[in-house]
Amino acid sequence: MILEKLINETAAFVREKLAGDSSGHDWWHIDRVRRNACRLAVAEGADPLVTELAALLHDIADWKFHGGDEMAGPRAARQWLEQHAVDSRVVDHVGEIIAAVSFKGAGVKTDMPTLEGRCVQDADRLDAIGAIGIARAFAFGGHFGRAIYDPEHPPELHDSFAAYKSKGGPSINHFYEKLLLLKDRMQTATGRKMAEERHRFLETFLAQFFAEWDAER
Ligand code: ADP
Ligand code: NI
Repeated sequence: MILEKLINETAAFVREKLAGDSSGHDWWHIDRVRRNACRLAVAEGADPLVTELAALLHDIADWKFHGGDEMAGPRAARQWLEQHAVDSRVVDHVGEIIAAVSFKGAGVKTDMPTLEGRCVQDADRLDAIGAIGIARAFAFGGHFGRAIYDPEHPPELHDSFAAYKSKGGPSINHFYEKLLLLKDRMQTATGRKMAEERHRFLETFLAQFFAEWDAER
């Protein structure tokens, strides 16, 4: 299949699949991740096809929406690519990236062995911080019925994926459990640079949030 057609059909498939999402995992999240991943791929010299396909398919069946099943995403992505007669090395590579892309808890090390995977993971993480990251965190919290903040429910740093998966705290806790940790976990030089301003914006937001909470401003 001509590559441009494959990319366009994949984008249309993902767009339809994620239509109506209100948890921050909608089509425009995928589109932003795809654009940033492609930008990182150019800067870092990664394979453009694997990077773009993995970015497009990375949230196609996220464990958060499939009863915690971590393999639902890689399975659905592989199935789609196999149906379109994509080279088996590309299918394997995209499947591996999607299996490894998710954040799994503050104390859980995650390895992303290939440059293409690191571009997709950095792009996904950039979308979790900055102004967009803040909007997504509260959209996710609202979608799952979480409180905005509860001073009696402090954040936890999870040291296993199982503990991270089963967490259910207020959305502000997610900043301490994940979002503020992402800057130091970026894996490409370009992504690390892009994360700096977005990280500072999270800190500014939290300072203002707590000042207002404490009626200091
Ligand atoms: P990952 O693959 O690392 O889980 P996703 O692309 O699936 O990343 O997006 C995860 C995003 O969903 C987070 O960055 C955040 O915006 C939101 N999110 C996930 N869990 C929570 C939570 N418990 N509270 C608030 N937001 C959350
Ligand atoms: Ni994502």
